Amino acid sequence: MKIKVESSAKRKTELLCGFVLEDSNKVLGLPKVDAKTSSSINQSLKDMNGKLGKLTIIPIPSKKQAQRILLAGIGKKENITNDTIRFVSGKIAQTARELKLKEFSIITPPTFVNDSISSVSQIVEGAKMSLYKFDKFKAEKIEKSPDMTIIVSKSSKISKAIKIAEAVADGAIFTKSIGNLPPNECTPTTLANFAKNISKKNKMKCSVISQPELKKKGFGGITAVGKGSKNEPKLITMEHNNGPKNQKPIVLVGKAVTFDTGGISLKPGQSMDEMKFDKCGGCTVLGIMKSVSELKLPINVVGIIPSVENMPGGEAYRPGDIIKLYNGKTAEILNTDAEGRLILADALAYGEKQYSPKAIIDFATLTGACIIALGNNVAAIVSNNNQLTEKITKSSKSTTEEVWELPLTQDYMDMIKSDVADIKNIGIGRAAGTITAAAFLKSAIKDTPWAHLDIAGVAWTQGAATKDKPYNPKGATGFGVRLILDYLQKL
Ligand code: BES
Ligand code: MN
Ligand code: ZN
Repeated sequence: MKIKVESSAKRKTELLCGFVLEDSNKVLGLPKVDAKTSSSINQSLKDMNGKLGKLTIIPIPSKKQAQRILLAGIGKKENITNDTIRFVSGKIAQTARELKLKEFSIITPPTFVNDSISSVSQIVEGAKMSLYKFDKFKAEKIEKSPDMTIIVSKSSKISKAIKIAEAVADGAIFTKSIGNLPPNECTPTTLANFAKNISKKNKMKCSVISQPELKKKGFGGITAVGKGSKNEPKLITMEHNNGPKNQKPIVLVGKAVTFDTGGISLKPGQSMDEMKFDKCGGCTVLGIMKSVSELKLPINVVGIIPSVENMPGGEAYRPGDIIKLYNGKTAEILNTDAEGRLILADALAYGEKQYSPKAIIDFATLTGACIIALGNNVAAIVSNNNQLTEKITKSSKSTTEEVWELPLTQDYMDMIKSDVADIKNIGIGRAAGTITAAAFLKSAIKDTPWAHLDIAGVAWTQGAATKDKPYNPKGATGFGVRLILDYLQKL
C-alpha cells in the first residue's frame, strides 16, 4: 500500500472516508458537497448514528470529488481511546480492499477529537496492519492492497509521523509474517537467516552462534533444549549501533522455540499445532530491530534471540537432568516443557555480560499460567525495576498493547530452589506459574534493570477470548513491536 498526503479533499477519489462521532449530524472535516449529496449523507448519518466501528457507504451520483463517501463511526467523544482511529481505519482499509478499489482517502479528524499526529499515526498503523494476511501457502492470494491518501493539513511533523508509523507497522507485519510460518518451514536456521538479511539491508552487525560453539561457550540451557531435535539451536545477535559510542545499549531478548512439543514431558495433542507460535518472542525482537534500523533511531539497541526446537528425540534432555547455565548456576530439570526459561536464562546472562546494558527487556510465550491469570488481551510484566516498568506501562497506554504487573518478591525466588542443584526449572505445583518462571529468569542476571513480558496470551489470536481487531487478523499479532518502539523512541 502506497500512502500519500493531501491538504484537502479536492482531488477525485474512489472512496472518500470521514469519521463520525456518535449522535452527531456531521462528517468530521468533510468539505462542502452539493445539495443532493448532502441530503443523502444526512439520511445515512441518522441511520448509522456514529456508532463505533459502524461503516456506511453512500454512492455519489455527481461523482465530483468522490465516487462514494464512507461514513465511519467512532463512538462518543468521551470514549475515544488511543486505539479508536487505528481500529476504525483498519475496518475502512479492509472494506476498500473488499470493494477491489485501487485507492481510497481518509479525512483526518479535527484536533478537538484527536491530536493530529496521533490520528495520522493510527490511520497508517491501522490500515497497513489490517491489510496483512498470511497467504504465503495459498494458491488463491488475497486482493492487492489499495493505496491510501490521508487528508490532513501538511507539515513536516505530519510527514515524519507518517514515515515513523509506516516503519512501525512494517516491523509489526514482519513479526506477524514470520510468527505465522509453519514449523517445518521455520527452524532456528531460518530465523538466523532472517536476522542476517535484515541486518545486511539495514547495516546492523549480526552474529549467529551454532553448535558446537554453543556448547564450548557454556550455553548449557540452549544446548540441553536443542538436543532433542535434528534442527540445531542458534543464538542470534543483532546490533544497531547508532547512538553515542559509549552509551550503554538497550538489550532485547526474545524466546524463539520454533516448535514446542514439550520434549520428553510431552504436551497433550490438543492444539499442539499452536506451539509453532512459541517463537513469537524472538519474532517480536526481529520486528523491533528491523524498524529500529530502518528508522535509524539515534540509540544503541541489541537484539538477542535464543532459538531451538523442543523435540523428544533420542538425544533429548530429560526430567532429572542437571545442567549448567551460561552464568555458571546449575539447574535441575523437572519438566522438559519448561524449556523457555532455560534458553532465556542463557541469553539474558550473555546479554548482561557481553553488553553491560542500560536495561534488558525480554519477550516470551513463557507460561500457560499467564493466560489463566490475565487472559488473551493483556500481557504480564515482571521486573526488578519500577522505573522501567513505569516507562513500558506508559508506552503501552499509547499503543494499547496492554500490560499488567505481577509481583516478584523473595518468596517467589524461594519457590525455585532445588534440593540437588542451585535452582529447578519449575515452581511448586501450579502456584503462580508465570511468576516462578520469571523468578528463574531473574536469577540469571545480576543487577541490570530488567523487565520480562510474558506474551503467551497475546502473541497470537486464540479464538473468542481474543478481542476482535481488524489489525489483528487470525494468527500472530506482533504484540510488543509497537509497544517497545514507542518506549525506545521516548528514550
Ligand atoms: N510455550 C509454553 C507456554 C505456553 C503454553 C504458551 C500455551 C502459550 C500457550 C511453555 O514452554 C510451557 O510449556 N510452559 C509450561 C510450564 C510448566 C511445565 C511449568 C506451561 O505453561 O504449562
Ligand atoms: Mn514448553
Ligand atoms: Zn515453550
